[in-house]
Amino acid sequence: MLTRPSLGFGLGLRVDHYEAILGGTPPVDWFEALTENYLVPGGKPLDYLQRFRERYPIALHGVSLSIGSTAPLNGEYLSQLRALADRIEPVWVSDHLCWTGTGGRNTHDLLPLPYTEEALAHVVRRVQAVQEALGRRILLENVSSYVAFRDSELTEWEFLAEVAGRADCLILLDVNNIYVSSVNHGFDPLAYLAGVPLERVQQIHLAGHENHGDYLIDTHDHPVPDPVWALYAETLRRLGPVTTMIERDANIPPLEELCAELEAARALSARTLASAPRQALAS
Ligand SMILES: [Fe+2]
Repeated sequence: MLTRPSLGFGLGLRVDHYEAILGGTPPVDWFEALTENYLVPGGKPLDYLQRFRERYPIALHGVSLSIGSTAPLNGEYLSQLRALADRIEPVWVSDHLCWTGTGGRNTHDLLPLPYTEEALAHVVRRVQAVQEALGRRILLENVSSYVAFRDSELTEWEFLAEVAGRADCLILLDVNNIYVSSVNHGFDPLAYLAGVPLERVQQIHLAGHENHGDYLIDTHDHPVPDPVWALYAETLRRLGPVTTMIERDANIPPLEELCAELEAARALSARTLASAPRQALAS
């Protein structure tokens, strides 16, 4: 059975904010921790994470799964992730619908897949294997992209929907990534939203990007811009209340500044849901 626990409004856990969080009571409902920062047992980072976990729900968000790669799944990484999850008891574990390298090389980029039946079958098998190894459903996040494969037979949202349905996994919907890719590839972001199986969406990412006029780069170093807020509001109209967070990975401002942006998300959500027709919330 699919449920959508609502954790409220969160932030990505960043080292710059550790002491401000522990020394105060910021208006943040939960935090998303980057998995790879906490895999080493006994280290200082894990010590911090356990202190945050005592006070907040924590989601684990990884970048190393490389679910679409043709290289074998990394068993050691999966064991470490499982051990971390057993220790932290996160609300959920997420990674990206992408590949990051092959042949032993890691590009550290979240690369898009060819949206073909062959790739679909491959990814579904791997998601099932990962979920078995971790003993839980995972969330997969849509990535932003700048190139596409000529071989693609499906749209990105059709591919995402098929992966989620066939592998029985969940979705982390990055609204900024939908917007960035819609501009870069010239698709309608509302068509994307309409194609996503909303009952599988557990969490939303909001972020900013760099605007280069006719293309956008997903830099996570700016405040959330107006078109992303508008797409978030449209997502809420279709989805109802949903766990939301703001991602900031560079040019990180003081915690209060991000909390103010998070308050804007909270207020927009409350306004939108108060005025949304009832039937739109029955997803
Ligand atoms: Fe994201």
